[in-house]
Amino acid sequence: MAYAAGVDVGSTQTKAVIIGEDRRIAARSLMETGSNVVRAAEQAFAAALRAGDLREEEVEFVVGTGYGRYKVTFGNTQVTEISCHGRGAVHMFPRTRTVVDMGGQDTKAIRVAPGGEIVDFCMNDKCAAGTGRFLGAASAALDIPLSELGPTALRGERPVKITTTCTVFAESEVLSWLGKGKKIEDILLGVHQSIAMRSAGLLRRVGVEEEVTFTGGVARNVAMIRTLEERLGVRLNVSEESHYMGALGAALFALDHVQASRAPAAAARRAG
Ligand SMILES: Nc1ncnc2c1ncn2[C@@H]1O[C@H](COP(=O)(O)OP(=O)(O)OP(=O)(O)O)[C@@H](O)[C@H]1O
Ligand SMILES: [Mg+2]
Repeated sequence: MAYAAGVDVGSTQTKAVIIGEDRRIAARSLMETGSNVVRAAEQAFAAALRAGDLREEEVEFVVGTGYGRYKVTFGNTQVTEISCHGRGAVHMFPRTRTVVDMGGQDTKAIRVAPGGEIVDFCMNDKCAAGTGRFLGAASAALDIPLSELGPTALRGERPVKITTTCTVFAESEVLSWLGKGKKIEDILLGVHQSIAMRSAGLLRRVGVEEEVTFTGGVARNVAMIRTLEERLGVRLNVSEESHYMGALGAALFALDHVQASRAPAAAARRAG
């Protein structure tokens, strides 16, 4: 069987996905992007090959995506992360019309047509207060690992109101609530609600049409799912693969290339 791969070099984490001709995920990997972006892309791809027990020659086409897509030096071409998240989301949840991708630096709201083509998109520029970076600042201030932020926030009953609109000040606001004797879970619930409010604003700019699919690493955070659902008043599609959706979309574009390169040969065989 032939394979195709997508490597999503995000500002925070690098994801690689390898799919077979059946469009199923054969292997995947995740690592921190760090300061050596070229190396992160190489290592993520190598780790996915190992995870799938595959040889590099078996992967016929590689598409790079994410902010570091041009650093995927072994890639055959690049596709924007907007297109890749849209493609991955529609593949996983075919009735998707709106995608919200929350990553380490950016939140993106994407509207897709029934076929998965991008209709419109909107991104938080300049301000990171609606993104994973804000969660990272809260996690550092409270000394709670990222994976515990969501479960802790869900125990909150009286959320504080976070007024800071800038990540730079998030840490001091979180600490000042702590100084006032607020419970960590109530502070964290407030942090998630404030991010949900900003993300909902971004989504409304492209129009929230159901079904809505949540992608990116922050989709692993249960409190972010819950608070965003409450704010939007709709259920969100979330999958085990949400963090890998951009890399999956890239792998699907790569598979298009593999199949297109076969088409002339197949047509020639039929004609002959
Ligand atoms: N296990 C986890 N639980 C909760 N949150 C997580 C977990 N793993 C990652 N995250 C969140 O996901 C973020 C990274 O997401 P992702 O990999 O989609 O970002 P990215 O693609 O590098 O960034 P961007 O798209 O903004 O360039 C982290 O900053 C963190 O907030
Ligand atoms: Mg990303």
